[in-house]
Formats: sequence, structure tokens, C-alpha cells
Amino acid sequence: MTHPLKHSGLAPAPGLEGLVVAQTALSEVDGQKGELILRGRRIEELAGTMPFEHAVGHLWTDLVPISQGDLQTTFAKARMLAMAAVPAMSEAPRELDIYERMRLGICALPVDLELTSAERICGAIPVILAAAARLENGEQPVAPDPHLATAEDLLRMLSGTRPEASAVAALDRYLVTILDHGLNASTFTARVIASTGADMKDAITGAMGALKGPLHGGAPGPVLDMIDAIGTPERAADWIANELREGRRLMGFGHRVYRTRDPRADVLKAGLALLPQDNPKLRSAEAIERAALNALAIAKPDRRLDTNVEFYTAVLLNAIGIDRQLFTPLFATGRAPGWCAHVIEQQKTGRLIRPSSEYIGPMPG
Ligand code: ACO
Repeated sequence: MTHPLKHSGLAPAPGLEGLVVAQTALSEVDGQKGELILRGRRIEELAGTMPFEHAVGHLWTDLVPISQGDLQTTFAKARMLAMAAVPAMSEAPRELDIYERMRLGICALPVDLELTSAERICGAIPVILAAAARLENGEQPVAPDPHLATAEDLLRMLSGTRPEASAVAALDRYLVTILDHGLNASTFTARVIASTGADMKDAITGAMGALKGPLHGGAPGPVLDMIDAIGTPERAADWIANELREGRRLMGFGHRVYRTRDPRADVLKAGLALLPQDNPKLRSAEAIERAALNALAIAKPDRRLDTNVEFYTAVLLNAIGIDRQLFTPLFATGRAPGWCAHVIEQQKTGRLIRPSSEYIGPMPG
């Protein structure tokens, strides 16, 4: 017997492309215009013009009861509290990678009734990231400095020394740039988890899992691998043509929603001007990007494939001295306030997300 739904065409496109499954007041991604709006303001108005804490305050308007000005103090308090999670991270098996150790650290965070779970987790993640990175290198974690803002303290806790102002400004710009981005895979994951009534740390650690893959937040490490493998820009065209001939994807290009350039790529590219220009990758990045865009236009003439956020993420983070193992952990750090805001929005709906599937297996005889 044929199942009544078999080949019915009722199922949405594979990958749920174009399907609207939530309403949000947080962010709008216009894939045709190449525009990203966060609560009524374009990303270009936010990134590079205000510190991370202010941008988070803007995103959290009406969701978390805190004024923008207080958020730096609140995050500093959360960073101090986060040190309580470090022993559990230190005692965890050596085989855990940085990202796994971070998830463990988030689960081990102490409860503090003065902070909401969004403030507690987002404020703490920089400490947890820096501790995980230092433990991976066999170094002692560095305690936070509550007098500093998030970006500066994060760089200080990573290296153990006071960072350059240019690196702080570039990291701040990066963290704001990636704050929120519609219903991407990790944000959708966070909302699904929240819809079951699970708590904030479950939603954030779950979202981190979804972020990790190379088709989403795992791309910038491989972008840097590509830039390294290409070496000098003169080799770019041949190297890229070969990759495409072999059927491999170029990391840092293409997007599910954008049919034009990802606006975040330009925001980050502009951030490179803040940095000392003696890094060879800064000089070759633009030429490699151009070669990739030319090759993609030839290889995939029916599909506009343009630069996404991850290409210049890799270049910018590398230029401020961040190891490639930390690219995805840093993405999670900047995106966590976006995930939290979506979790709170989802909780307000009180509605379980539970779609259906179309059964295409055999029926009993
Ligand atoms: N390099 C080469 N070809 C590509 C690329 C790419 N980067 N991206 C898409 N294509 C090709 C596909 O192979 C496919 O070709 P085909 O029709 O001949 O089979 C066509 O373009 C359409 O691709 P889809 O898979 O339908 O595109 P989708 O919307 O699923 O992909 C994605 C979006 C996953 C980001 C994809 O462009 C990709 O894999 N990019 C590289 C990884 C990357 O940069 N990820 C970070 C994304 S940004 C973020 O998540 C924060």
C-alpha cells in the first residue's frame, strides 16, 4: 500500500530553505538587499561605533531588565563568578578540546540570583573561553579584571598581558558584528531547546553544538587554512580552480540567505584598517577574495556565491593574534547574547516547536 503522503510534495524544501518558523523583533536578514538589521538599526550603525556591551543592551531591550550603561558592570560581575567553574574545567579529561571544555564550563557555572541566566552566561563565556584555551596549552587560567570591558579583558585573559588598543577595538567590532543573525542553524537550535522548557544553559550549549560545523560557525579556521595553502596571491586562481574542479567548497563564500554580499564581510573588512598593516595575510586577503569570486562566478553561473562573514573573520582574528582553534569559540562568545535573546523570545510564546515529518518508509503488510 502506498502511503498517502508519499511523494506528496507536502514537505518543505530540504534544509527548510525559505520556511518562516518564528516571529522575532531581534534581527532581520534581507538576502536580496544584503542588509542586516538588529532591532531597527543596521549592523553598520552598531559595529565599530559602540562597545559590545552597548550593542548587547540594544539587542536585549525589553527582554532583559538592565540598562545599557549597567551591562559592563553586570558582565564584569558575571566574569568574576565564572572563576568558580574553572576547577571543573581543569579536572576534565585531557582529551576534551577547547570547545568541549567550554560547554562543560558553562554547565558548571554557579547560580547567582542577582543576575539573569542570560547575563550570567554571556558575561561568563569570555572567562570560560580564555581558561579553556590556557588549559589546552598547559597554562594556568588568568583571573578576570572587573574594571575592564569584555573585549579587552578577554584578550588579557588569553595572553596574560595587556592587549594593544587596536586589537581590542577590532575584537569589539567583531563581537558586535556577529551578535545576531535571524534564524540561522544555531539560533533555531536554541529556540527548539527553549521551546521544550529546558533552561538557558541547555539552549546555549546545544546552540554551540550546531554552530561548530564547517557549514556554519566552523568555517573561519578552514578559511585560514585555505589562505595558508594558497600562500601568495599569484597562486590563488590555480589553487581555487583546482578546489572547485575537485568538487570542494570554498570556505567563507556562499550563504543560505544572502544572494549578494554578506554586509558583515564589509564591516569586518573595514575593521582591518584599525590594525597594523605588516601582517602578510592582510595584504593577500583581498586578492584571494577576488580570485575566489571570479572562480565561483565561472563555476556556478546559476548561483550567486559571494563573500560571507567568515572570510574576513578569519583574516581579522588572525591579524589580532588569535589562534585558529579559538575562531569558533569566539563566534560563540559574540553570538551567545543573540541566542539568549531568542531563547527569551521563544519562552514568551510558551509554544513547543514540534514539526512533523513525511513518512517515506515501508508500511506494514
Ligand atoms: N564553494 C563552492 N560551491 C559552493 C559554495 C562554496 N562556498 N557554496 C555553495 N556552493 C555551490 C553548491 O555546491 C551548489 O552547487 P550545485 O548546485 O552545483 O550542487 C550550489 O552552490 C548551491 O549550494 P547550496 O548547498 O544549495 O547552498 P546552501 O544554501 O545550502 O549553502 C552554505 C550555504 C552552507 C553556507 C554554503 O554556501 C557553503 O557550504 N559555504 C562554505 C562554508 C561557509 O563559508 N560557511 C559559513 C557560512 S556563514 C555562517 O554560517 C556564519
